[in-house]
Amino acid sequence: MSDAPPQRAPQRIALTGFMGSGKTTVGRLLAARLGWQFVDLDSAVEQRAGKTVPQIFSEEGEETFRQAEAAALKELLQLPETVIALGGGAPTWPAVRDLLAGDGALILLHLHAPFPVLYERCVAQARDPRSTPRPLLSESEAAERRYKHRLSIYAAISHRTIDVAEMDAQQVVAEILTDRPTWGQSPT
Ligand code: S3P
Repeated sequence: MSDAPPQRAPQRIALTGFMGSGKTTVGRLLAARLGWQFVDLDSAVEQRAGKTVPQIFSEEGEETFRQAEAAALKELLQLPETVIALGGGAPTWPAVRDLLAGDGALILLHLHAPFPVLYERCVAQARDPRSTPRPLLSESEAAERRYKHRLSIYAAISHRTIDVAEMDAQQVVAEILTDRPTWGQSPT
C-alpha cells in the first residue's frame, strides 16, 4: 500500500491491474458517474505515436513502448478531473512509478483478480475482431509468470486493491464510489 490518498480533492483517479482486470470498462463508467473525462493510456500512446500498440511492439520493441507510456502519462497527469486506465505493464517501469508517486492529487486503485479469471477474460476478448491484440499475452505460462511478478508492484503502489473477480463493472464502480466521501479529507 502506498501513502494515504491525497488530502486535497483528488483531480485524477488511475486504475491499475493486469490485462483483463477491466481498467478500461470500469474507468469509462467511473468517469461518467463522476462527470469527469476518461483517458485510456494505450489509446493516448497510440495517438501520440500514430501507430497501434502491437505495431509499436513489433517495430520498435517493448522498451520504446514503455518510454512512450511514460511520456504520455506525464501529460495525462496534468489534466483535471480525469480517470486514467493504465496499461497493465506500465507500473513495472520505474519512470511510471515515479510519475504516479509524484502526483499529489491522484488516487490509484488496483483492480485485482486471480490469474485464471483474467486470462479467460483476455481470451474471450481476443475473439472479438474489434479488440486490439495484446502482444504480451500470447502464452499462458509466460503470462502467469508476468502476473505473479506484477502483483506485488500493483499492490505496493495503490491506495486500495479491489477484488473484482466476482463483480461486474457497475459493481466495481459502486465499490470504488463507497470511498468517495473520504476523498480529499485528512485522515483523523
Ligand atoms: C500490456 C497491457 C496492455 C498494453 C500492452 C502491454 C502489459 O494494456 O499496454 O499490450 O504489459 O500488460 P491492457 O492492460 O489495457 O490490456
